[in-house]
Amino acid sequence: MKKRVAILISGRGSNMTALIEAASAEDYPAEIALVVSNRPDAAGLHRASLEAIPTAVIDHTQFGEREAFEQALDRKLGEYRIDLVCLAGFMRLLTPWFVERWSGHMLNIHPSLLPQFTGLDTHRRALAAGVKRHGATVHFVVPEMDAGPIVLQGSVAVLENDTEETLAARVLELEHQIYPRALRAVAQGLTKV
Ligand code: GRF
Repeated sequence: MKKRVAILISGRGSNMTALIEAASAEDYPAEIALVVSNRPDAAGLHRASLEAIPTAVIDHTQFGEREAFEQALDRKLGEYRIDLVCLAGFMRLLTPWFVERWSGHMLNIHPSLLPQFTGLDTHRRALAAGVKRHGATVHFVVPEMDAGPIVLQGSVAVLENDTEETLAARVLELEHQIYPRALRAVAQGLTKV
């Protein structure tokens, strides 16, 4: 049985699109059953509906407390009988309550070779640090931000004339390759915590 996956987004949704495309293969062990955005204007929502994937907006600004937002999110995931959650450019910190609830069943993609460069502006910081390789990481989500057991990493060489934009573009391409592979491994139970 295919695992039922929800993808959580806040914006562009290019990783979401990569997951949707991978999951359209018959032998892929997961199906994208739901896309949730915390922002009504996320471009990814339109893309998901073009693919006939159910979408939901749970606008965090409509909730007083972080917990109330997460309870609404959790109810929605229950409604769609979700097995696995993939964060893909989801720009909300999640409380330990939600993270514990989905522990071992929630992945995130981060644009750096963790544990290097947690947080934002990873490409600019990688260039400033002068690292020779940079990349992206898919990891299980734990309460601490941009931490947790690593499922898969991909790396690229940092080139002499790289700018933040060129480096970001190469890493993004890599993200689109590794997230579907990581989700496949987790959905098949080959990787677990
Ligand atoms: C990606 O770089 C991802 O690694 C980070 O946020 C960005 C989201 O891009 N967490 P997209 O919405 O998937 O295009």
